[in-house]
Amino acid sequence: MSKSMNVGLGAAKAAKKDEFYTQYIDIQKEVEAYLEFDPDTFRDQIVYCNCDDPFESNFFKFFAANFNRLGLKKLISTSYDGSPIAGEQLRFKDKDSEEKSSEAIAIEMDEVLDLNNDGATDIEDVRLFLEQNPHRRVILSGGGDFRSEECVELLKKADIVVTNPPFSLFKEYVSLLNEHDKKFLIIGNTNAITYLDIFPLIQSNELWLGCTNFNVGMFFQVPDHWEKYHHIDEETGKKMARVSTSCWYTNLDHGRRHQPLNLMTVADNLKYSRGLKGKEAYDRYCNFDAIEVGTYKEIPSDYDGIMGVPVTFLNKYNPEQFEIVGNSDDSEMMAGLGVEPLGQEFIEAYRAHGGTGHYSANMRMLGLTSPKERVIYKRLLIRHRKLA
Ligand SMILES: C[S@@+](CC[C@H](N)C(=O)[O-])C[C@H]1O[C@@H](n2cnc3c(N)ncnc32)[C@H](O)[C@@H]1O
Repeated sequence: MSKSMNVGLGAAKAAKKDEFYTQYIDIQKEVEAYLEFDPDTFRDQIVYCNCDDPFESNFFKFFAANFNRLGLKKLISTSYDGSPIAGEQLRFKDKDSEEKSSEAIAIEMDEVLDLNNDGATDIEDVRLFLEQNPHRRVILSGGGDFRSEECVELLKKADIVVTNPPFSLFKEYVSLLNEHDKKFLIIGNTNAITYLDIFPLIQSNELWLGCTNFNVGMFFQVPDHWEKYHHIDEETGKKMARVSTSCWYTNLDHGRRHQPLNLMTVADNLKYSRGLKGKEAYDRYCNFDAIEVGTYKEIPSDYDGIMGVPVTFLNKYNPEQFEIVGNSDDSEMMAGLGVEPLGQEFIEAYRAHGGTGHYSANMRMLGLTSPKERVIYKRLLIRHRKLA
């Protein structure tokens, strides 16, 4: 029995959340940025797309079409039987069967030749190759789950994993890649930045954000039966949804993370951004010795203490320029850094001016008292490397 028939309600809900298909242009834009930094990023590498039906996924299509230009050694792609669209996407015919298969498959390509003699090597050549060599499609008895034994065996062979994995399994996915010490370029949700098991990797510079700025949000193709979507793509007629919280996560080096961020001085901030004559240039937390910097644009060049910045700072993060000290979502980490509990006095003053958030006196969240008591969410605590 195919695994898809066993998908329960919980799994189905998770699967629904996971059915966001990446656009070719977004993959191209991101990959090109790595090539600009190092044209040999993918040369002689085995690239594995492990959540990708080869004939549905633009990851497979992109790497197959650019196989020779990138100098790949091998391209592997495995599809997942639990996908609600499994079996719908096989758009080529077997020689001996016209039936669609809903079983998960693995495809391994060692070369892409110009089989249709049109002077180029592209996805049409891959399609022809697979039609002529049906044995290159191997049925996966484990249903194509990236955690299954056969997919993990393929993972071990791979050098770089590139895909948009199911968001509901993101932590598990990243931990598997790390366990096998793989290079990767994957799409995830920006909320994952502060997850307890993702943040330490960011802090230790084992994982960072990709090149595409995550403030822009990305559009993904979604299944035809979805009622809620953003628009219909004019070219493909497919439904598209916007996910404002998507970003690329990687451990491949790229140029943007070596560009220093332009900074202002404390005096500049007082003069140009704030114009608050006679006041301090930056607010200071009431329960921790650090300043609040509401946007990366206002990070001062001449402050040598800890600064709280929004997570969007990571779009500009250069590890040679800054050190990431902590993440305000992690209360244990906050306690370790010396953040004091908000305290009863703070909570009473907060309630007195109408604050309705569910805060309590023992919470170690970052608090401001000026102009009135408020709690500051989701801050990364950073400091200058050189000044520190
Ligand atoms: C966010 S979608 C992206 C699909 C494709 N990688 C792309 O970018 O267009 C995630 C895909 O992973 C599949 N998937 C869900 N759970 C999986 C698992 N345990 N192992 C492998 N793939 C899985 C889903 O069915 C879905 O097709």
